[in-house]
Amino acid sequence: MAGDLKPVITEVRAREVLDSRGLPTVEAEVVLSTGQIGSAIVPAGASRGKGEAKEKRDRDQSRWEGEGVLTAVAAVEREIAPILKGIPADPKIVDSAMLELDGTPDKNRLGANAILAVSLATARAAAIASRMPLFLYISHLIGQSSLSIPTPMVNIISGGHHASWRLDVQDYLVIPYGAQSLREALDWVGRIYHGVRRRLSAQGHPTLLADEGGFSFPAKSNEEPLSLLTDVIQEVGLTPLRDVALGIDVAASHFFLNSRYRWRLEGEEFTSRELAEILFNWLERYPIISVEDGMAEDDLEGWDVLSKSLRRKAQLIGDDLFVTNPTRIKWAAEKNFANAVLIKPNQAGTLTETLQAHEVCREVGYNAVVSARSGDTEDTFIADLAVGLGVGQIKIGSIARSERTAKYNRLLRLEEQLSGAARYAGALPFRVFARLPTDQEGSVS
Ligand code: PGA
Ligand code: ZN
Repeated sequence: MAGDLKPVITEVRAREVLDSRGLPTVEAEVVLSTGQIGSAIVPAGASRGKGEAKEKRDRDQSRWEGEGVLTAVAAVEREIAPILKGIPADPKIVDSAMLELDGTPDKNRLGANAILAVSLATARAAAIASRMPLFLYISHLIGQSSLSIPTPMVNIISGGHHASWRLDVQDYLVIPYGAQSLREALDWVGRIYHGVRRRLSAQGHPTLLADEGGFSFPAKSNEEPLSLLTDVIQEVGLTPLRDVALGIDVAASHFFLNSRYRWRLEGEEFTSRELAEILFNWLERYPIISVEDGMAEDDLEGWDVLSKSLRRKAQLIGDDLFVTNPTRIKWAAEKNFANAVLIKPNQAGTLTETLQAHEVCREVGYNAVVSARSGDTEDTFIADLAVGLGVGQIKIGSIARSERTAKYNRLLRLEEQLSGAARYAGALPFRVFARLPTDQEGSVS
């Protein structure tokens, strides 16, 4: 608070805890001279971009099949803690001290899991010390006041790395942008989610859940979930493109080999141009408003083709393409690749760099979507991040499984607390895309 002396860090602790895939991850605690403590647990991805900050795993086969994170925990306690003692709990100062200590471009020496856990715990401690809720502290950090409750992009059907490759396309999502509030939006999503479950059961399919809580079933084609979702949306009384739109995360980097896209389900392979045509065709026939990683991270020609044909029509998100990296976002924006960025703090590796990535999105006029990882935890940091940044969109996974619901529930509480001060973003982030019917514009704030 103004005039107050900033508390300093007196202790930094870490421990190995579990994530939602039953794998170890890092929890850090930052203790302040005032006695207050901030803590954070970091998530882990499965369909990773090559350019992500590198987490550290023990590779000691005698425990957790080599996936332990005791080396990252030791990095926090033996290397990071001593240099942070006595310095102010300010994420900027703490993050730059850790970056200097690590000394590598991808944080592989100390480990991005060690560094991010401390970075996020510092922000929490600082927020507590400033007597601010985390979202407000974040919004002050970036010097803006436009808080918003994000429109969720909710995974209903899963494929790729998250569902044993039953489908090649990774996520089939619904975006309830026509709702008046997050509470109403989640009710609509629930109708669709349970409608899909009933339909799968009736067809004799299993209703098993994949890593992010979406359904995984033996579909006949990568297209089938699109028609299934479109049918169910109508069956439960909602109108496609007015109330709810579809999104897909193609995660195309993960089926790209030797310049070809290979779909195991159909047993077919495509050139970039052919994949772009398939996606274009899907957008003609289904109510899709958002396409993530429609091309592989290394397929720049593909990104060029896809962007030229679709970037005015729909949201084209880069996830593996950008890896929450400010330099990559700037570079891609100059080439007019994509028009939106997935913001994952653990791809960047510090809160400061995550905020920089968001700042570049604002500069280049790209949408930003705050996102969880497929291996996540009860930590709700990203809910506050999305509200505080006012990005208007969040991607958490499905509405089942506690590592997901912890974040939706945090958002529901914030929506209640902030009534009047932060509105549900609804269709606002999608207004720029030609896909959205003009009559939608009247219904958003
Ligand atoms: P990941 O998947 O967390 O496994 O990388 C999420 C995504 O691709 O958006
Ligand atoms: Zn993705």
